[in-house]
Amino acid sequence: MISMLNVSDLNVFYGESHTIYDASFTLGDTDALAVIGRNGVGKTTLLKSIMGILPSRSGTVRLNGTVLSNLQSYERVRAGLAFVPQGRLIFPYLTVEENILTGMTHLAKQQIPEYIYTFFPVLKEMRRRRGGNLSGGQQQMLAIARALVSEPKVLILDEPTEGIQPSIIKELAQSLKKLRQELKFAILLSEQVLSFALEVADKFAVLDRGRVVYENERAKVDMDTIKAFLTV
Ligand SMILES: Nc1ncnc2c1ncn2[C@@H]1O[C@H](COP(=O)(O)OP(=O)(O)OP(=O)(O)O)[C@@H](O)[C@H]1O
Ligand SMILES: [Mg+2]
Repeated sequence: MISMLNVSDLNVFYGESHTIYDASFTLGDTDALAVIGRNGVGKTTLLKSIMGILPSRSGTVRLNGTVLSNLQSYERVRAGLAFVPQGRLIFPYLTVEENILTGMTHLAKQQIPEYIYTFFPVLKEMRRRRGGNLSGGQQQMLAIARALVSEPKVLILDEPTEGIQPSIIKELAQSLKKLRQELKFAILLSEQVLSFALEVADKFAVLDRGRVVYENERAKVDMDTIKAFLTV
């Protein structure tokens, strides 16, 4: 296993409000790690800081051995991180095709690779429709497709199941599993839906009030411990 993403002693503040405390973890090149935690514990703050969207006060983020700490988020995308934000944030007035192309502006090739439509046939059917006309689940697939076309080494997803119907959540989990197997990238995701995280991830970290308080592999994970942190 090659260590692909390494986060060490990351501290993030909003003004004087200390929000992430000494976050540290490592992701192998084909690992999938789920950061579990209830509302407001700091999941988005942690992921945005790794992406360079929010500044960190101290700590290091390394991708494949390269320190990213001083890079802007677009440079981190070039280096191999891709981000699917909470709430998806697709462009409602752009078509599906145009939305996907916004993920590949820094690549020489400006053609959507065929595997995107193989994995998400519904995006092919709807490729000329505006993003805003898609259902929540379809928009999530679109946001994932937009992230994938930058050919990431690590795909980062912030609460991908939020606002999505249970039947589509299952489909989404299957798609992510297959994509990871075939394209061989690592996944870092945040979640509150444990069943989805168990389906997609092989490692778990529990975040509570800004601290990683528990970490384990899927086979060894103590469900009661995790569930206790998810209940308010
Ligand atoms: N822009 C901001 N300025 C100040 N405080 C913020 C800001 N954004 C978030 N916070 C606070 O930081 C803490 C962590 O928020 P964050 O959004 O990272 O949590 P989360 O785990 O992603 O929650 P959710 O599950 O609701 O998405 C919360 O107390 C939140 O109120
Ligand atoms: Mg969040």
